[in-house]
Amino acid sequence: MQVRFSKFEIQNLQIMISYKELGLVNTRAMFAKAVDGGYAIPAFNFNNMEQLQAIIMAAVETKSPVILQVSKGARNYANQTLLRYMAQGAVEYAKELGCAHPEIVLHLDHGDSFELCKSCIDMGFSSVMIDGSALPYDENVALTKKVVEYAHQYDVTVEGELGVLAGVEDEVAAEESHYTKPEEVIDFVTKTGVDSLAISIGTSHGAYKFTPEQCTVDPQTGRLVPPPLAFDVLEAIEKKLPGFPIVLHGSSSVPQEEVDTINANGGCLKAAVGIPEEQLRKAAKSAVCKINIDSDSRLAMTAAIRKTFAEKPAEFDPRKYLGPARDNMKKLYIHKIVNVLGSNDKLIN
Ligand code: G3H
Ligand code: 13P
Ligand code: ZN
Repeated sequence: MQVRFSKFEIQNLQIMISYKELGLVNTRAMFAKAVDGGYAIPAFNFNNMEQLQAIIMAAVETKSPVILQVSKGARNYANQTLLRYMAQGAVEYAKELGCAHPEIVLHLDHGDSFELCKSCIDMGFSSVMIDGSALPYDENVALTKKVVEYAHQYDVTVEGELGVLAGVEDEVAAEESHYTKPEEVIDFVTKTGVDSLAISIGTSHGAYKFTPEQCTVDPQTGRLVPPPLAFDVLEAIEKKLPGFPIVLHGSSSVPQEEVDTINANGGCLKAAVGIPEEQLRKAAKSAVCKINIDSDSRLAMTAAIRKTFAEKPAEFDPRKYLGPARDNMKKLYIHKIVNVLGSNDKLIN
């Protein structure tokens, strides 16, 4: 018997794509190993091919698991279908580069609605973040629980957030920072069923994480030194949730050499300050098992492009400036993996 669908039914026919068919993994086993092993998984945002190539080359060369993060802004910029095929391509590319068993997660960064999370899950993402941190507590719980209930049917893992990060980015903005309240975390995790929890302990998004007034000045270098992260809050959360995967957003270090290169070649980044790497190294050894880095990659890309433009003004082949940008990002990713997060040599090959 021939089944006929109306035009309306065809338009609404949901095609579910399982991340497992794309060769991706969720975060569950990855995080359990990272918490046990005292290291953190890199979560790098990507919006374009050069960033993705650099991330995969770095992960393969260092034998590191990796989380590819797509923000709502990235989805709008690059198109969600294209991004999903790029992630699938990334798995094949990693194999071609010699990694027999790549561990790659495709993660929605800062999902702000159930509908967005559902759409990503249906499109092949293996992990989603539902960021209800700006909502009243009970609404955050209800929204996060709804996403978890949907995601877990497909073995997709979910990151929730408690506490508010300061900082301003295109799509992610919060004027003030409020540290996560340790007394809320057990209730939140139990009621929602989340697989990991993003917390606020003083990190923030973007390249201007602290005002000059919040910093002291290093007398030797003249550089701004930011206040330390609230490790006491992290420790209190770890005591409440022993072994539970914790996530740090806003963890770029804002390398001063990249800022200097940008400023020396026509840029104008004033008083950009990030999180010192020794603090991130300390966090990575704790229950923090996912560290989000986006701004540092933007800086590395922009620095290399500005330098090429300044040194070779007659060049107009994009490969001639995007190539050095890709090399510079790859160097940065390798540095983060090996010298900050410690996620190198963790793949079975
Ligand atoms: O946390 C935010 C990420 O850096 C993504 O930024 O919204 O500008 O893509 P975006
Ligand atoms: P940075 O702006 O510090 O790179 O943080 C990125 C981030 O948290 C993405 O979710
Ligand atoms: Zn973030």
